Amino acid sequence: MEIPVFLASDEHYHPSDKYRNSSYIQNMQEYLQLYQESIEHPEQFWNRIADELRFLDRKSTVWSGSMPDFSFFPESLLNVCDNCVDRHAENPAFRNKVALFWEGEPGDKDCLTYAMLQQQVSKFANVLRSLGLQPGDVVSVYMQNLLETYVVLLACLRIGVVYNTVFAGFSAEALRERIVASKAKLVICSNASYRRGKVLPLKDTVDLALQGVDSVEHVIVFRRIQNLATPMTTGRDLDYEELMKGSSPDCPVTPMEANAPGLLIFTSGTSGKPKGIVHAGGGFLLGTYAYSKYQLDLQPQDIYWNTADIGWLTSHIFVLVGGLAMGATTLLYEGALDYPYTGRLYEMIERYQVNKLFSAPTAYRMLMKHGEDLAKSYQLDHVQLLASVGEPLNPEAWHFLRRVFGQGQAVINNTWGQTETGGTPLASLPGAVAMRPGSCGVPFFGHHLDIVDQNGCSLPDNTPGFLVIRSIFPTLARDIFGDRHRYLQSYFSQLPGAYFTGDSAIRDSFGHYWVLGRVDDVINVSGHRISTMEMESALIQHPAVVEAAVVGEPDSLKGMVPVAFVTLDKAYSVSENIADELKEKIVQDIGAFARPSQILFVDVMPKTRSGKIIRRMLREILQTGDVKGDVTGLEDVDVLETLLEQMQRPL
Ligand code: PRX
Repeated sequence: MEIPVFLASDEHYHPSDKYRNSSYIQNMQEYLQLYQESIEHPEQFWNRIADELRFLDRKSTVWSGSMPDFSFFPESLLNVCDNCVDRHAENPAFRNKVALFWEGEPGDKDCLTYAMLQQQVSKFANVLRSLGLQPGDVVSVYMQNLLETYVVLLACLRIGVVYNTVFAGFSAEALRERIVASKAKLVICSNASYRRGKVLPLKDTVDLALQGVDSVEHVIVFRRIQNLATPMTTGRDLDYEELMKGSSPDCPVTPMEANAPGLLIFTSGTSGKPKGIVHAGGGFLLGTYAYSKYQLDLQPQDIYWNTADIGWLTSHIFVLVGGLAMGATTLLYEGALDYPYTGRLYEMIERYQVNKLFSAPTAYRMLMKHGEDLAKSYQLDHVQLLASVGEPLNPEAWHFLRRVFGQGQAVINNTWGQTETGGTPLASLPGAVAMRPGSCGVPFFGHHLDIVDQNGCSLPDNTPGFLVIRSIFPTLARDIFGDRHRYLQSYFSQLPGAYFTGDSAIRDSFGHYWVLGRVDDVINVSGHRISTMEMESALIQHPAVVEAAVVGEPDSLKGMVPVAFVTLDKAYSVSENIADELKEKIVQDIGAFARPSQILFVDVMPKTRSGKIIRRMLREILQTGDVKGDVTGLEDVDVLETLLEQMQRPL
């Protein structure tokens, strides 16, 4: 593992006094004291968080068991939707506050106050009940960022139905796989979405995905685009608006045990099959409330925009559950951030007076590419916080955010988290922690992070190793849906009693953590986590392919892009056509975001004596044009020369 050069710098930037004074934690000493207390007496910290939320029956035990078989507030009863919606709708100071602003890509606008949200959510919860859904049943949701998507998800939480959001950019094949794996009884979708001016017919994709799947009893369709012909299957498909018309706005919340499953979200792992990560409702609520409060400093008067798509967990952590539990006013947006003009994001920030933005490094790099003059042509003085998650935030992008977008005064908060951690165990506490450009900040309260070597021994500062979490925390994934064995193997077999993140990291002498990248076969493309194995198994299904290996290549905009090395069957010859077909195969099986940037046809692959492809060498060849590292593991060293020659040949 290499140590990045920028780590050597001791650059620090302090939040302004103005920011600090309005922050929940105002200096480093306060953070350190509270952190120490939260590690030594986690129950004290989490009890205080619980005091700020509403339980329907709160028992005195905060934790029972140990990693991985633990419970958080066992036998206590609460309801997530009650905390995110009703608690505010019943409060005269929040009732008529906007909970969600929404803007569609074509510029249409809408919003819901907390009182309106309570009404809509209750009505839809009654729709779900009338269709016979029971606590614990799974519903698959295939929708883009819409107000109705939030209504649907909160309605599920209201009556204990477990939802699974599937990113609306996934293909029919990927959607089918998730519907089948989660045993969904109901699919809820929008008829279409807008993306870069194009209409994406989501309902058509659902119809394709459901061919041959008989576990799904109904499909509820929200007509995002009214005058679009949308195929409806009689008896199975139901219209959202029609159902809502006849539904009562009175729907009591269902008390749920704090550890009962709340949501299910699939992510890529090291094998070809996506993992259905199960989060407990109660733990997710308490944890995401705490992350949103302390890492984003959310205040009632803030206008906060989180650009994440609802298909990714970031939206659930920082908007749907954490953000709403904090009573925030959040902006949701349907489309591409630079469409129909490059300044769309800045323009919306100016128009809605957004003072806190949460986005991804890819989006920030895109803004940087569009240049400083663009940023300067908008009025952005009110921006106080720019947060980021999903991939490394390179120091160049960090400085652009601070100096240009943030007008030299905004706090930049690069957070680190995973679908499995259900939140961001690493981040800055914006008013308390001095910023180090590119670092992921410091451990969050109650999270004992560590960096270890191959034997699980803790490493000193400034030494790269595996990032692990030694303490239990409320948002840690509780299971992989239907596969407990895989859950235990993937995360808890490497270091007994600790959670293995699959990332490498380094801690500097200031206590900041720097996440360096994955140590497994997962690559991060524009923040989308893709399993190279999943791509390889799609490629292998093409009749022309004998062998395939996918690796990530650094990209200045997307962070990483996938490149596929492919060996063809002798009956086929190398051509542009086959390369296009293979790219298309990935798009069909996974989605357009996973399309390889290049297909490199080779006759040989570097392999170990046991026949495993050494992807590390393919990565090195791509990046440097050579292999300088250790080659002793190779079965046949001559392979490298052949490979290098073949990579030079034109298609
Ligand atoms: O490798 C890390 C990278 O993204 C992975 C998690 O991806 P996903 O589950 O899609 O994220 C959901 C976010 C709630 C991690 O294992 N990653 C995430 N944040 C950072 C990061 N890598 C470097 N720096 C970050 N700030």
